[in-house]
Parts: sequence; C-alpha cells; structure tokens
Amino acid sequence: MVRFDSSNAVAFFNDGEWDRIALAVGHAHELLHARTGPGSDYLGWLDWPIRYDPGEFTRIQQAAARIQANSDVLLVIGIGGSCLGAKAALDLVNHSFYNLLPKSRRQTPEIYFVGNNLSPVYLSHLMDILDEKSVSINVISKSGTTAEPAVAFRLLRDWLEAKLGPDAARKRIYATTDRSRGTLRKLAQEQGYESFVIPDTIGGRYSVLTAVGLLPIAVSGADITAMMQGAADARAAYLNPRLQDNACYQYAAIRNLLYRQGKSVELLVSYEPQFRSFAEWWKQLFGESEGKGGKGIFPATAEFTTDLHSMGQYIQEGPRMMFETVMAVQKPALDVWVREDSGDSDDLHFLSGKGMDFINKKACEGTLLAHVDGGVPNLVVELPEINAYHLGSLFYFFQKACAISGYVLGVNPFDQPGVEAYKSNMLALLGKPGFEQQKAELEVRLRGKQDVSDCWRDG
Ligand code: PA5
Repeated sequence: MVRFDSSNAVAFFNDGEWDRIALAVGHAHELLHARTGPGSDYLGWLDWPIRYDPGEFTRIQQAAARIQANSDVLLVIGIGGSCLGAKAALDLVNHSFYNLLPKSRRQTPEIYFVGNNLSPVYLSHLMDILDEKSVSINVISKSGTTAEPAVAFRLLRDWLEAKLGPDAARKRIYATTDRSRGTLRKLAQEQGYESFVIPDTIGGRYSVLTAVGLLPIAVSGADITAMMQGAADARAAYLNPRLQDNACYQYAAIRNLLYRQGKSVELLVSYEPQFRSFAEWWKQLFGESEGKGGKGIFPATAEFTTDLHSMGQYIQEGPRMMFETVMAVQKPALDVWVREDSGDSDDLHFLSGKGMDFINKKACEGTLLAHVDGGVPNLVVELPEINAYHLGSLFYFFQKACAISGYVLGVNPFDQPGVEAYKSNMLALLGKPGFEQQKAELEVRLRGKQDVSDCWRDG
C-alpha cells in the first residue's frame, strides 16, 4: 500500500488551518460517497475494482493472449485518458527498454502508442518500422470522434487492410469504446471487430483500470489480476472517512492547504525514470480535473536528478509558488554496486561498495532538505516496490485523492468543458460540416494576426 509522508510540509501551515481543511475533506467524502456532488454521474471508477465485469475481464485476457501469440507489434491508438494510463503502466512495470529487448527475452509484442498527436513525421517513422512485422491494433476512443486517434486509425487501418486484406485485417483490430454510441462503436459492429466497453460512468482520465488500460497492459505480460487486486485493496483502505487514518485524504487535504497559501504549482518528481509516463497520467488527472473556474493547482512534472541540472536553480530560488510531491520506491527491482578501486583514480573511493540505489536515495534526501530550506514544501508518496499490485493501488490512490481534492477546491472534478474549445476551432478550420460560421470568424481573426506579423516584418 502507498505510504504518504507530509512531515516536510507541516511547517508551512498551522493547526487551525489543518482543522478547517479536515472539515472540508469530511464534506467532500460525504459528497463523493452519497453521490450528491457535482459530476456524480461519473463515479463508476469509485467501486470499479470490485464491480468490474468478470466476463469482459476474461475476454481481455484471452484477446491479450491471442495478440501475444500472433503479433510482433501492438499499436495502441488513443489520446489523453485513452492512452496515458496504459503507457504509464507499461513504462512502470516493464523493462525500461521494453521495445528494444530481443523478442526471445521480452516474449511479448513490441507496443507503440499512436494517435496521440497529429504529426505526419511520427506516423511515417512508425510505419517505417512496421513493414516486416505482424501487427495488431487496439483503437481506443470513448467518443469515437476525437480527431487525433480517428485520423491515425483511418491511416493504419488502410495500411493493415492493404497488407493483409480486409478479412484478415479485421481479425487483428480490437476496438475499445462506448457500449452503444459513437462512430467507433458503429464501425466495430459493421466490421466485426472484437470490442470492449468504456463504461458511461467512467471518464477518460479515470479509465485506466477498465479495458482502456487493461488490454494493452495485459499484452505486455503485466499481471492485470494483481493490478485490480491492488486497486480493490486501496478502495477498501481509502473508504475510511477519518483524515488521520486515510493517506489518500491527507494528500488531498495538504495540497489544498498549500494552494490556499499561494503554492499554485505542484511538481511531481521522481528519481526513477520509469515514472516518466506515470507523471504524464497524473498531470492529466489533476490538470483536467481541477483547472476550471479560474482555479486549480498547476500540475507540473520533473525527473530527478536529471532535471536538477536544468530546473534545480528555479526550484531552489525562483518564485515561491511551488510544492513538490516526490514519488519514491522503497526497494528497487534491481541494484548496481560501485566497485572498490584501491587507487581512487576517479575520486569516488567514498562510494566504494555502495549501491546506486543508496546513492540515489541520498540524492533524494539531500534535495528534499535543500528544497524545504528554500521554501518548497515536500510531500512523499512511497511504494514498497514497483509491481502491478502496487501500481493498481497507486492509480486508485491518486484517482480518489483527485476527486476529494477537486471537491475541496469547489470544482467538478469529472468534466472537462475547456478541452472542447480547441477541438471545435480545429474542426471548424478543417472544414467540418456544421462549423461554417465559426470557420469564417476564425479565419478573419487569423488573417488579422497575419496582417500584424506582416507589419512587424515590414519594420
Ligand atoms: O479524460 C478525458 O476525458 C480525455 O482526455 C479523453 O480521454 C480524450 O480527449 C480522448 O477522448 P476519447 O476517448 O473520446 O477519444
């Protein structure tokens, strides 16, 4: 289970403030569990670890086994909540160079993510490495209308059909989408793709423990049964309304306390690069859930010690608007020792016989104390070790903390109205039917901007 340590943040607030936030968290707990808060139609994730459909779970495992047996590559097409959770899990529980390992060692397909940008270069380069390989596709989109995955799917489906013929291609396409609505559901029905359901009551960024995350994660060989058990155990542990006994609620409480004191940026840091994609998942979860109505902690991420050599100065001495949440791991999967060198030719004798994990942990402790001295409160979220079970509990920890934190902040943590603005502008500019008026207005504005930049050019 997750261990949460706030001892390096408590100096930044007083007992009265803690008591007030405790009341707010109690109220948020009531709203969430009585299902009376904003966005309560989207609470399917809350009991999902004990309420998921076992029949579909078995089908996911069977599909994963089939893909493992007949494919060199799985392409996962999706964006935002429809890709970040799976990527987080794959990078965290698998080998750091998973795709580069010889197949004999990896034993499962290479896995690539696509449809999470609109870059023709990325897509072309990806297709360059697919030529000689047998490929399966998992296309994931709840709405079925998101432009990035829809475009990638159109192109890759054409490519697969041209390569294998339509009948063989459709046996290698797996669609994860809404139960009954949307373009992708319709296409899956027409084409006979094997398909999985994204429940109506679970929004994209809360969906990693559904088929959205589970199929790609299972294809990589990770133990999805253990992951669901970790989430189920976390669900039980974080049902406790008593703030002093609930680490998840403590995290939600403290980040709100710090926010009220002007700490408007939360930097999620880790000393383990395997957390890189997890940090992206976390960033979406909190950014999309909390950033609304002019409010919200800005979620940022950094990878230490790497970024201490680029962002360290700013964190130590820049504007005092930041707090840090450190993702720590008690016991790494592997360690490497520095050997003895009697000659001390590289001045590292003081490290002889020490493990890299020991050195990394000292870097973490030293940095934490330096940043606290510099006015940056530090929170620590620690896992005993990295495996599928603990990852399941970590996903749940942050999902529930985010819901509670959003309610304490006074926002609906389950909608994302702001994301639509760019989407509708993009579709209008691309000439989608129904957007004609918007297109005309946007083009006038863009022409205006062009005129301004012409003025700059003309001097
Ligand atoms: O969290 C969310 O709701 C979003 O990030 C969506 O997951 C993302 O926009 C992709 O949407 P869809 O799954 O409908 O293609």
